[in-house]
Amino acid sequence: YRKYKPFPPVSLPDRTWPDKTITKAPYWCSVDLRDGNQALPIPMSVEEKLELFELLLKIGFKEIEIGFPSASQTEFDYLRTLIDRNLIPDDVTIQLLTQSRDHLIRRSFEAIKGCKNVVMHFYNSTSTVQRDVVFQKDQKEIIKIAVEGATLIKKIAAEYPETNIRYEYSPESFTGTELEFAKEICEAVMDVLEPTPENQLILNLPATVEMHTPNIHADQIEWFSRNIKNRDCVLISLHTHNDRGTGVAAAELGLMAGADRVEGTLFGNGERTGNTDLITMAMNLYSQGVNPELDFSDIEHITKVYKSCTRMNVHERHPYVGELVYTAFSGSHQDAIKKGLDKYKSGTTGFWDIPYLPLDPSDMGREYEAIIRINSQSGKGGVAFILDSQFGYKLPKAMHPEFSRKIQMITDETGKELKGAEIFEEFSKEYLTV
Ligand code: KIV
Ligand code: ZN
Repeated sequence: YRKYKPFPPVSLPDRTWPDKTITKAPYWCSVDLRDGNQALPIPMSVEEKLELFELLLKIGFKEIEIGFPSASQTEFDYLRTLIDRNLIPDDVTIQLLTQSRDHLIRRSFEAIKGCKNVVMHFYNSTSTVQRDVVFQKDQKEIIKIAVEGATLIKKIAAEYPETNIRYEYSPESFTGTELEFAKEICEAVMDVLEPTPENQLILNLPATVEMHTPNIHADQIEWFSRNIKNRDCVLISLHTHNDRGTGVAAAELGLMAGADRVEGTLFGNGERTGNTDLITMAMNLYSQGVNPELDFSDIEHITKVYKSCTRMNVHERHPYVGELVYTAFSGSHQDAIKKGLDKYKSGTTGFWDIPYLPLDPSDMGREYEAIIRINSQSGKGGVAFILDSQFGYKLPKAMHPEFSRKIQMITDETGKELKGAEIFEEFSKEYLTV
């Protein structure tokens, strides 16, 4: 990642931006096995969840929300399998979700027996609409739900001295909640759980439904981060959804606004339009020279396992990952890329500075071969580039027009694009056979 540099500052009339950037990776928490799974038309089987869990470990996640064990026997059995088969590395923390309700909290604790590191994540809904429409409860009654949950969790956790238990509280639908009330309920939970700088409480502030532009979300996070008491005793966690299509942007701005941690999923799987896509977010950091501390260098394998476990597709234009994201169909793009790659290979630039290619595809295990495809829109430079980069033949400049005309005739006739090997075949027929 060191070959990438931050994008240059953008000058605005009265100030220089950015005075804020993300300079280090946040704490990541994968919620693929919970938020991701609960949104699948066919939820994952225990075996599929085990396979995805293994993948998440390989990528480097240290906190993984594995499900909602109190909600179903399958979820319960899945956690038991992880623990009983000793599949959780010592440096990985398992997170469980539970509503802030007595019997669900008790059942969740039953599921964690023998587990080394746990985040017990409890939540209740706090927004105006949820209070009015779903619960018909006033603010005091909503606070009571959270405080009773926290009290019970603290009490039962004391019976598990062999387990390192941390707590996470989510005022679900935070972004539709009055900020003063969100602060009040979180502080009431803090009063019960008594977090310290050494044993911080995770306060997760979900954009359960994405309701605002990312700057407004960031303002909410910033206000909360500046006003919550004992800030050093809490970790502020983001959990954005993507209803307006800006889940990643909201999480990025949320980090710049003071948050410490991000919950999300691979490829943005999750309820409705999904959660924050952690691949995009991590690779955004990577391509600006920040170590994301997650490893997406074998994206083909990650995509394959993800698709088979979830039965979801990955869009061809999915950032960093889609089948088409390292292609250039236009001749001028191809030419610019060729110039950039030549310069990069000559070692004079020091940084990856290639027009139209924000990332070196090989950093994700993708092939240069896939970068340029030739169709009737391609210019002369593209064909020459393929022959040079993939087959080691440097076509003299004078031959470019003739050979690219030949390729264009074929693509015009067939209406299809030609792959590198097909171009080489034409080249061989034309110039290499005696
Ligand atoms: O979106 C949401 O609010 C959630 C919570 C349960 C954290 O998934
Ligand atoms: Zn969610």
